[in-house]
Amino acid sequence: MTPILESKRFGETPEGEEITLFTLSLGNKISISFMNYGATWTHLFIPDKNGNLEDVVLGFDDLKGYLHQEYLDNYCYLGSTVGRVAGRFSGNQFSIDGKTYHLPKNQGGIHLHGGMEGWDKKIWIAQPFETDDSSGVTFFYKSPDGEENYPGTVEAWVTYTLDASGSFEISYKAITDKKTIVNPTNHAYFNLSGDFSKNIEDHEFWVDAEHYLPVNVNSLPTGEIAHVAGTPFDFRRPSLIEAHLHQQNDQLKLANGIDHCFVLNPSEKSAILHHPKSGRTLTLSTTAPGLQVYTGNYLNGSFKGKGNSPFDKRAAICLETQYFPDAPTHAEFPTILLLPGEVFKSRTVFAFSVEE
Ligand code: BGC
Repeated sequence: MTPILESKRFGETPEGEEITLFTLSLGNKISISFMNYGATWTHLFIPDKNGNLEDVVLGFDDLKGYLHQEYLDNYCYLGSTVGRVAGRFSGNQFSIDGKTYHLPKNQGGIHLHGGMEGWDKKIWIAQPFETDDSSGVTFFYKSPDGEENYPGTVEAWVTYTLDASGSFEISYKAITDKKTIVNPTNHAYFNLSGDFSKNIEDHEFWVDAEHYLPVNVNSLPTGEIAHVAGTPFDFRRPSLIEAHLHQQNDQLKLANGIDHCFVLNPSEKSAILHHPKSGRTLTLSTTAPGLQVYTGNYLNGSFKGKGNSPFDKRAAICLETQYFPDAPTHAEFPTILLLPGEVFKSRTVFAFSVEE
C-alpha cells in the first residue's frame, strides 16, 4: 500500500505567509506530520502493544505554538531541521584556507545550531511526491552567501519519505558555490510512552558505538575520542537510560545529563530506542558518522506544548544523526567541508515496531 499524503493549513506567520502541515499515513500503522516552517517534524503517531496510536514526538498543536514568545525565550529546536551546522564552535569561529569566519552567538554566548536565524526558522519550498511504494515531501531552501556569516550560497534539500513498510526516511542534500561547511540534522524529541508528563528514563537504549566525544564546560568536544567502556556512555547492550543517567560521572555533570556525540560503527542498524511498557520501538539506521544524543537536560517546563503539556527535564530524547560537532577545530574528525561541484548527502531511516 502506498502511504497517503495529505496537507492542510497549519497557521500563518506574522508576515502573512501561510504554513502547510503535511501528513503521511499508512492505515493504523503510522502517521507522520511535518511543516514547511523550518522543515519541522511535528507529529509521529505509532501504535503500542495494544494497537493504541499515540503521538511520540514533542511539538505544538499548531504553528502559533512554534512562534510563541514563551517558546522562543526557551527555544530548543523541537523537531527542527538544524543547519547549516549542528552544534557549537569553539571560539564561535572556524577557518577555511586561512580565513576566519566569526559566528553570531545565539544561545548563552555561544553559536549553536546555525545561529540567530538558522534553517529551523526559514520557510522552505515544499514539493510533495509519490512513487509506486512511497510518498513524501522534498523541502528546498537557498541559504544566501554570508547568512549567519557562513560563506557560500548553499542550496539545501531535505526529503521526508514514508515507504509501504512504514519506514520513515529523512535525507539531506546540499550544494554550494564557495567552499563552506555543512552539517545538518533533525532535532526531533522522542518520548515513546506517548505521555509527555513522564520522562524517558524508563526507555531502553542501545547504540552501536564503542567511542564517544567527551566535552568541556562549554559543551564543546575536547577532541578526545574516548572509549565508552566503564562509563555511562556504554550502551553497547540495551539498557535502561535511568541506570546511565544516575551514575557519578564528570561528563554527565558537565552536560547536565547526556548531551554527547557517539561515534557510530558503520553498520546497518545504529541505535534502538525501546519503551518496555508500551512496546514501542524505534530502530535508527544512518549514513552519518555520529549520533548526538541529548536527554532533554535543559527542558524545564517553561512553556506548554501539545495538549497543553509542559515539557520538563528529560521529557524526551533527541537522536541527532550528524557529523561530529566542532569538526573544523579538530582535524582528526571527519570533515564537514563542502566544495563547489561536490554534493553533500546523508540519510537516516527510522523503522518502528512493537517489541516485548
Ligand atoms: C544540544 C544541546 C541543546 C539542545 C537544544 C542539542 O542538540 O546538544 O546542548 O541544549 O540541542 O537547544
